[in-house]
Amino acid sequence: MNKIVTVVAPVNIAVIKYWGKRDEELILPINDSVSATLDTSVMCAKTSVTARPEFTEDEIWLNGKKESFFNKRLQNCLREIKLRASDEKSVDENFLSWKVHVCSENNFPTAAGLASSAAGYACLVSALAKLYKLKSDVSSIARLGSGSACRSVYGGFVRWHAGEKPDGSDSVASQVADSSHWPDMHALILVVGEAKKKTSSTKGMNISWQTSELLKYRAQHIVPQRTEEICKAIKEKNFAKFAEITMKDSNQFHAVCLDSYPPFVYLTSVSHMIIDLIHSYNDICGEMKVAYTFDAGPNACLYLLEKDVPAVVSVIKHIFPSSSHAFIKGLESETVTIDAALISKLAIEPQAKDLIKYVIHTKVGEGPTEVVDGSHLLNQDGLPNNLVCL
Ligand code: DP6
Repeated sequence: MNKIVTVVAPVNIAVIKYWGKRDEELILPINDSVSATLDTSVMCAKTSVTARPEFTEDEIWLNGKKESFFNKRLQNCLREIKLRASDEKSVDENFLSWKVHVCSENNFPTAAGLASSAAGYACLVSALAKLYKLKSDVSSIARLGSGSACRSVYGGFVRWHAGEKPDGSDSVASQVADSSHWPDMHALILVVGEAKKKTSSTKGMNISWQTSELLKYRAQHIVPQRTEEICKAIKEKNFAKFAEITMKDSNQFHAVCLDSYPPFVYLTSVSHMIIDLIHSYNDICGEMKVAYTFDAGPNACLYLLEKDVPAVVSVIKHIFPSSSHAFIKGLESETVTIDAALISKLAIEPQAKDLIKYVIHTKVGEGPTEVVDGSHLLNQDGLPNNLVCL
């Protein structure tokens, strides 16, 4: 049996942030978090997996480069998948003893605060789960790869329940609403920098957990209520409430980074200009039109309704002019002429060119899906198709 399974999986961008672990090994968070899963037709990870009796070792190729399989998180995911398969008796014992080959690619910058590890691990675990014919929820296995990955196992709006059990069995993700619930929820990702971040999320949240009182206060007294409120706002499609909570939670997360000791800063002056621009734009419009959120990097993710995309894209192009012809990538977006009166009221002046490198226009989408057109990343021998992978 030479079966190759290929899956594409989405990124997700949190609106209630996960920051801080109560267990490093099992990746158990100190608070619930909530995210939207973004359309795989725009941004995705793609992974092919196969298991063969003739393979002598587990091997992995990531974005065209051979990487070591002796990575604790990777090993934990594979071990858990096999344990589950053995419990569920979904494949025979022989198959379980065979080594695996994995080839994975992202179609967006890795480690630039664009949730690449979330898509990558969700993709790996979903592909392995299909190869080993698992029936049960695999979010708790994706969690072992990267905490935020457990939310990419589902489409639409997703909540990761922190759970209470020391073994992590109740630290799983579940869907708040599927991708068809609020189809006009779009996102614009403003790519400010693609450089690898100085302080990784894993390291940063560890420093915060050790040193920030604000983080503990947030997890105990702020996040529980916010999580309930934002889930309600999502279910009721209350954009104003959704936007307010999203922005406040992003700001509090970055305040925690500054409250950590030594502090670390992910936002740049351009990130701050974007924050000012959004508040000013919402004020001028007299209603909540756009929400920003920032992960562990300077890039903004703006959530907004489809009807407002043309006006917002036009404002961004005006304030952050670009010399690129492909400034807006992803979904089609028209531009409109913006009202001169609105422009004159904005709190921020047009800036020098190319402060924002490009914008990715996307929307809420579905969870991991199997690729059935045969476009595997591994060939029939179970080796990377693409020669640069070798
Ligand atoms: C700021 O999931 O990357 O994006 O569990 O250590 O792999 P590890 O961290 P990771 O952290 C993501 C942090 C965040 C917020 C979020 O996605 O909720």
